[in-house]
Amino acid sequence: MGEALRSLTAPSMAARMNKPEAKPWINAINAYTPGKARSDDGRALIKLSANENPLGCSADATAAMAEARLTLARYPDPASNALREALGAHYELESGQIVCGTGSDELLNLIAMGYAGAGDDIIYVRYGFSVYDIAARKCAANVVVAPDQDYGTDVDALLELVTDKTRVVFVANPNNPTGTYLNDSEMKRLHAGLPRDCVLVLDQAYGEYLEDDGPASFDLARNYDNVLITRTFSKIYGLAAERIGWAYGHPELIATLNRIRAPFNVTAAGQAAGIAALADTEFVKGSRKHNTEWREWMASEFAALSNHGLKVVPSWANFLMVMFEGKCSAEVAYKGLMDEGYIVRWLPGQGLGNGLRITIGTEDENRGVMSALRKILEAHN
Ligand SMILES: Cc1ncc(COP(=O)(O)O)c(C=O)c1O
Repeated sequence: MGEALRSLTAPSMAARMNKPEAKPWINAINAYTPGKARSDDGRALIKLSANENPLGCSADATAAMAEARLTLARYPDPASNALREALGAHYELESGQIVCGTGSDELLNLIAMGYAGAGDDIIYVRYGFSVYDIAARKCAANVVVAPDQDYGTDVDALLELVTDKTRVVFVANPNNPTGTYLNDSEMKRLHAGLPRDCVLVLDQAYGEYLEDDGPASFDLARNYDNVLITRTFSKIYGLAAERIGWAYGHPELIATLNRIRAPFNVTAAGQAAGIAALADTEFVKGSRKHNTEWREWMASEFAALSNHGLKVVPSWANFLMVMFEGKCSAEVAYKGLMDEGYIVRWLPGQGLGNGLRITIGTEDENRGVMSALRKILEAHN
């Protein structure tokens, strides 16, 4: 470097003696809090905190994974072609309009990154899935939180917040952590009220738990070029460990996500397991039936505890949100259940300090958690 040039650059280099600083919008992120599997003192607990399938996964999926693991030295198919074909055939969708992701988490983040940046707004509903907040902040977008209605989406309140800056709206349907569901006509009204250049993301992680889940569930994304649907193999298919998600939408939306996703984002074993899991319709049917029956049982058990101030939020998913409005607080019940060997989800960080989200478990787990809860409530009467 010439002397003249060195003297020009030297002062600014000297000024850069501090340690690296993350961007302020990154520092503002509260890292995702996963559902715990152990107590604070390290004991293994019965896990009803992460909305996993208590029945496990299809035996065919386990076998397909074992076989795929014989070729560990090879990269997986970067485009998850066979899995997309299988998804297209199963859900009656064009496979070219599907992209797979490392869980639907990856896709939710990519949607925010692809369509919003500094100065843009991303809207989600209060008590929405916590990843929306992280995804929005990551790309320096403004987070706009719409008020809820009875813990669910309030279409009018959300539409009131739409401005020229709105780029993405996230709605989980059914919603996590509340389990609420926005019906078809309300969802269409929400979509109709949004500007054309705004992406509506319908996060259907729990869509397969609906009794009437079918091709119509995809209508908005099929008919409009500003709607993306995200789904996952982590819930009813019981493949959470493999991290397999997918999104469906207009080819241009999908092209954006393909441009920025990681090249080999779904493992070979995950792709094989996903294909086998889709084909095992009996396993999915059985999981849905188990969930519906035990969710109803749990809801009626909670209703019978209304004298203790318990109120259950109607749920369409594989969990129930129960509010504690009596003498025993949600925090006391959370800690008491942990002492009794059960871990559920207490979400004070999401403004839900007075509620517990409880995943529907096996019969033994459901009966066990209910009798543990009764014991705790009686002790605090
Ligand atoms: C509403 C919702 N969307 C997306 C996800 C992410 O699922 P995954 O990344 O495992 O596909 C979850 C997981 O709990 C969820 O509850």
